[in-house]
Amino acid sequence: MKTIAILAGDGIGPEVTAEARRILEALNLDITFEEGAIGYAGYVAAGHPLPPATWELAKRADAILFGAVGDPRGDALDRALRPEQAILGLRKQLGLFANLRPATLFPGLEDASALRPEVAREIDMVILRELTGDVYFGEKGLRTTADGKREGYDVMSYNEEEVRRIAVVGFEMAKRRKNKLCSVDKANVLETSQLWRDVVIELSKDYPEVALTHMYVDNAAMQLVRNPGQFDVIVTGNLFGDILSDQASMCAGSIGMLPSASLRAWSGDNGLYEPIHGSAPDIAGQGKANPCATILSAAMLLRHSLDLHDEAARVEAAVSAALKGGARTADLGGTMTTAAMGDAVLAAL
Ligand code: NAI
Ligand code: MG
Repeated sequence: MKTIAILAGDGIGPEVTAEARRILEALNLDITFEEGAIGYAGYVAAGHPLPPATWELAKRADAILFGAVGDPRGDALDRALRPEQAILGLRKQLGLFANLRPATLFPGLEDASALRPEVAREIDMVILRELTGDVYFGEKGLRTTADGKREGYDVMSYNEEEVRRIAVVGFEMAKRRKNKLCSVDKANVLETSQLWRDVVIELSKDYPEVALTHMYVDNAAMQLVRNPGQFDVIVTGNLFGDILSDQASMCAGSIGMLPSASLRAWSGDNGLYEPIHGSAPDIAGQGKANPCATILSAAMLLRHSLDLHDEAARVEAAVSAALKGGARTADLGGTMTTAAMGDAVLAAL
């Protein structure tokens, strides 16, 4: 019996995780679900965005299905109590440094893509984002300059071991796909990026079969729109990966379509699975959210944490079939509610 922790969180988090749970339940697997409060909901329930009971559950579970955290009411809280600290804390404390963000265009979604159909159809990539380092976790603060001006700062840093372990995942992934790895950095201006590039090049000697290229992040943003078909695996740091994957989502139709897995190297045990989007307060509670990103995250959970490859493929095929059949939430130009979209996937399953 496996345990899946469901950490629904805030905003649309509970709406989208509920649909993913229905899909997992329909597979009749030997799993139990345990829910934990997190984010602003955790703060309200237990005075902390990552309450001790939720942290214990996260450590104990075989995998975590995560919704999203973030609530406008949380913005006024001290940084340590802000909802977003919960997901940063989970990633860091569980050591989930490898964030896999596959982006593909599902058949029929050409019309939802921000790109021309013939360009959009070529999208089939994985953005591999480093998740526990970079400017998100460096020293940060607010200080006063000599002339009395307020100054905010966030230190960007990577050590070579942090770069090497994410690059290893990148090369290993590329080997299992099209043998193409593009490392994205800003080595022309950032010392962090120069080290990143040096380490990736050193490691490439162990992977002669993989064609390695390097690209500056500003160019990568442009190339993602101009010719996304050129990318297979992109490996990049935390900040660049965050931004590029949101951008890639619109190329693939909607931010409501992109799943992610956060893992420790290849062993995905105790991994965390979540849509790449946030809590979307603007549409929360209205049944407008697209649950596909979370359902596809559940498929990644089945594959990486539970080793259930056939079941994962079945879920992905069901999403694909539902979309082919015309199922569309508002972000995809349709009128279906979150639950109706879940019903369509369930029916296809
Ligand atoms: P967001 O991703 O929540 O929303 C951006 C836009 O996309 C909004 O217009 C929203 O309605 C739309 N959208 C997002 N998911 C959708 C879905 N499934 N279906 C249809 N439309 C969808 O990003 P935003 O607005 O910048 O952040 C909102 C809150 O979420 C903030 O508190 C932020 O800190 C938090 N956040 C949390 C993340 C996490 O828990 N991992 C990740 C990103 C943001
Ligand atoms: Mg983001």
